[in-house]
Amino acid sequence: MPDMIAYGGDYNPEQYGPAFDPQAARLRDADEAAFALAGVNTLTVGVFAWSLLQPDEQRYDFSSLDETIDRAEAAGRQIVLATPSGAVPPWLATQYPDVLRTDFEGRRHTYGQRHNACPSSPNYRRLAVGMAAALARRYAGRASLAAWHIGNEYGGACYCDNCAAGFRDWLRRRYGSLDALNADWNTVFWSHVFTDWGQIVPPNALSEHWRGEDHTAFQGITLDYRRFMTDALLDCFKAEKQAIRRYDASTPVTTNLMGLYRPIDYHRWANELDFAAWDNYPPTMHDEARMALTHDLMRGLKGGAPFWVMEQTPSRTASRDVNPLKAPGVMRLWSWQAVAHGADAVCFFQMRASRGACEKDHGALIGHSGRTDTRVFREAAGLGAEFGRVGRHLAGATTPARVALLFDWDSWWAMEMADGPNRLLRYIDVQLAWYKAMWRRGEPVDVLPVTSGLENYDLVLAPLLHMVKGDLAAKLEAVVAHGGTVVTGCLSGHVDASCNAFPMDDPGLLAGLAGLRVEETDAREPQVAVPVRFAPDGPGRGEPLGTGSYVFDLIEPGEATQVVATYDGDWFAGTPVVTRCQAPDSTGECWYIGTDLDDGSLDKLFDLATRRFGWSGTLPVAGVERTLRRTADGCDIYFVLNHNDHPVEVPSPAGGRELITDAEIGPGQPLALGPRGVAVIMGRQ
Ligand code: GLA
Ligand code: ZN
Repeated sequence: MPDMIAYGGDYNPEQYGPAFDPQAARLRDADEAAFALAGVNTLTVGVFAWSLLQPDEQRYDFSSLDETIDRAEAAGRQIVLATPSGAVPPWLATQYPDVLRTDFEGRRHTYGQRHNACPSSPNYRRLAVGMAAALARRYAGRASLAAWHIGNEYGGACYCDNCAAGFRDWLRRRYGSLDALNADWNTVFWSHVFTDWGQIVPPNALSEHWRGEDHTAFQGITLDYRRFMTDALLDCFKAEKQAIRRYDASTPVTTNLMGLYRPIDYHRWANELDFAAWDNYPPTMHDEARMALTHDLMRGLKGGAPFWVMEQTPSRTASRDVNPLKAPGVMRLWSWQAVAHGADAVCFFQMRASRGACEKDHGALIGHSGRTDTRVFREAAGLGAEFGRVGRHLAGATTPARVALLFDWDSWWAMEMADGPNRLLRYIDVQLAWYKAMWRRGEPVDVLPVTSGLENYDLVLAPLLHMVKGDLAAKLEAVVAHGGTVVTGCLSGHVDASCNAFPMDDPGLLAGLAGLRVEETDAREPQVAVPVRFAPDGPGRGEPLGTGSYVFDLIEPGEATQVVATYDGDWFAGTPVVTRCQAPDSTGECWYIGTDLDDGSLDKLFDLATRRFGWSGTLPVAGVERTLRRTADGCDIYFVLNHNDHPVEVPSPAGGRELITDAEIGPGQPLALGPRGVAVIMGRQ
């Protein structure tokens, strides 16, 4: 892809009038003029255009798309061409009712909304593939074509008869025999031994579930259904990709993922994506660390290669009960944050607001009035100009990280559907708490699947590693054997790949590494905070450490294991809660944290755990983020981002040139950042 930051976004001129409408032609002219003003170089087209592109099964009509692409190309803009399979047209659903989904409650849906196709429907697959092939046949080879964008935000699940049949096939491939399946699902529990594949039905509210998706009688069945659904949706993606590849051998193919989206295991998708792309709609206006974690997770899908932010709103969303605007500077700050974490593209949903339907009031570069003298437009144009000036230095640069954070959908699923010890502890909250401890230090983190190579990391964080599968325990032991540090903790090492408990105390296969066994785990309501104190003879010399919540491992340390901290309250006061176990023949260590610690405690522990590496502690000013990308020729580019609403002054992480202002700066020299300010420092080589 060209040496620039891709900037632009979803463009659906067909949603404000057919191409032959003179009024719409004027709008398209106005759009082009606005794009030029805003520095827009990339347009995502065709998402949800199925009913226009194929008015019935026998007929395609590409006139509107032709015009959009011709115009973009004439103006020198690149195209991300979407296949429209994210929403099926009414004729298709009426003609082939099997395309419609059956939901978790077992209700067969009638036609409506979007993301509405059953992934196992042969008719859906056939027609989506036909559409993708027709698009590829027509547009492959166009100079402006930068990427293919298949479907849109794959998600949800279906529980129809076709999916039930697909599930059984998937199970046959996974287990080979019913004996193996019965063993792994532990079906003797509640008399579930299956004697015929046909007896197996999807786990939903009509079968294994009560109180929603996280309460299942058989975690093994539900886990496998989520894996199957992930694969079924992926098969749809792959089938369209294959159709595209018949006509276009090289243009990268992707889809827009949703970041921390629980229903789909994106690690199962990663191989099939030519680059990772995601839509950034944080739940609140104060989610800077959560966004950072998500960027790093998305970057981790493709081994650290640059990714795209395929969508973000320029101003506000429309789908929530309360939809606040991004205050001045926020859109720019979050866009730079994406680049700081490895994005080579920052795109908006959407370029011009649609006039009708549920997203008509969603933020857009150009609103209903068509004006360009708005705050939103001015800020977008300002950012476009900055990207235009400095993008060529950044595109393609990667992130050198010394820390790996293990993120695992299986563990997420298994832990959140486990009955006990505490359902209120959430996977993402703990991942985020540990991630934030690194974020506050300005320490780049690779967020990785458990199948990754870990040998190059000094510090490997494995919070809530509920499921231990494959060679993971051995791999973590190797990190420590090579002198690295592993940190893990409560609820880890509890189940195998089928969600069955290991026949041993927690942390199961990690017990040797951690040098301890967990005898019991207690639990409390979220408002209960149990004090935790450093052990008197350890590195914290008996000082108070902080508090723990939710779950409380009662640890029996091994002989060579140092007790770093103990509980200082409740009936288990004095029992070890944080330990450190040094590997026998190396400097490597495993730290174990047996409760959900508060942020201050995590900071203190990570100070201690990384002291031997000589790392510095948390950054001097709260709310200031620092990260790093490295260019192919070894040049370090530091990003300093002020998420505060007030100005700050921080020491520059390096000497070099600040790319946005073109000012020279010395190492450690004070860097003045306005509210929501950004500095991009290209280090001297
Ligand atoms: C998603 C979708 C878009 C649009 C936006 C609105 O990301 O992909 O089609 O609905 O949300 O925020
Ligand atoms: Zn289905």
